[in-house]
Amino acid sequence: MAMRQKLVAGNWKMHGNLVDNQALLLSLRTQLVGLRNVSCAVFPPAPYIPQAQHELTGSAIAWGAQNVSKHAKGAFTGEVAASMLLDFGCKYVLLGHSERRAIFGETDEMAAAKFMAALTSGLTPVLCVGETLDERESGCAESVIARQIDAIIEVAGVSALAKAVVAYEPVWAIGTGKTASPEQAQAIHAFIRQKIAGLDAGIAQGLMILYGGSVKAANAAELFSQPDIDGGLIGGASLVADEFIAICKAAQ
Ligand code: G3P
Repeated sequence: MAMRQKLVAGNWKMHGNLVDNQALLLSLRTQLVGLRNVSCAVFPPAPYIPQAQHELTGSAIAWGAQNVSKHAKGAFTGEVAASMLLDFGCKYVLLGHSERRAIFGETDEMAAAKFMAALTSGLTPVLCVGETLDERESGCAESVIARQIDAIIEVAGVSALAKAVVAYEPVWAIGTGKTASPEQAQAIHAFIRQKIAGLDAGIAQGLMILYGGSVKAANAAELFSQPDIDGGLIGGASLVADEFIAICKAAQ
């Protein structure tokens, strides 16, 4: 059975400036070299994607966008099309992040439409799923995550997941310092993989499932040692070079 690659990606959210980005990207480019079986990526705010392209081209680090329009082009003020992200070398795009769902009203259906736009353009969609604390405490975590995944499968089919990444981000762990325990995270990752295996065992086996939610250098190795955790989607810690580098190295 082929061992899955690990992926550690930094979601910068709405942080950064040209000067700080330059220092961070230089550290990542020079120190994230020669990692075994680990890929790394950064997701800057859209205005800084050209800077990431300039600084990371030729390095082992990929880059992506935090959002994308479901439309290919047209009169959609403020939107960014998948083709425009490809113009600047993006490999990935985040979809369905809990902040887009909670703050900007992104529905499962909107996430699915964006997933399709990303996939058909050649980007690798990173589908973010996860439950709120209320949903977990009421025993609905698995049904919420199943619903979020089903919305994609209904539109794109299970085969689409062969060219995608899933990120499990319990909402209650994002930005709170309350990281899911390795056991909690592994249980949901195993649930996601088993759910997909019920449709296509090969796709399930190959699917990279990342964990996100207060990942730090201190807890990364134990999380990444879990059999169904294939890396991480890192928020706050990805803005600190030494921390993000240590997290990437912990995935080896
Ligand atoms: O997308 C990753 C992000 O939601 C996790 O944030 O700050 O808890 O690592 P953080």
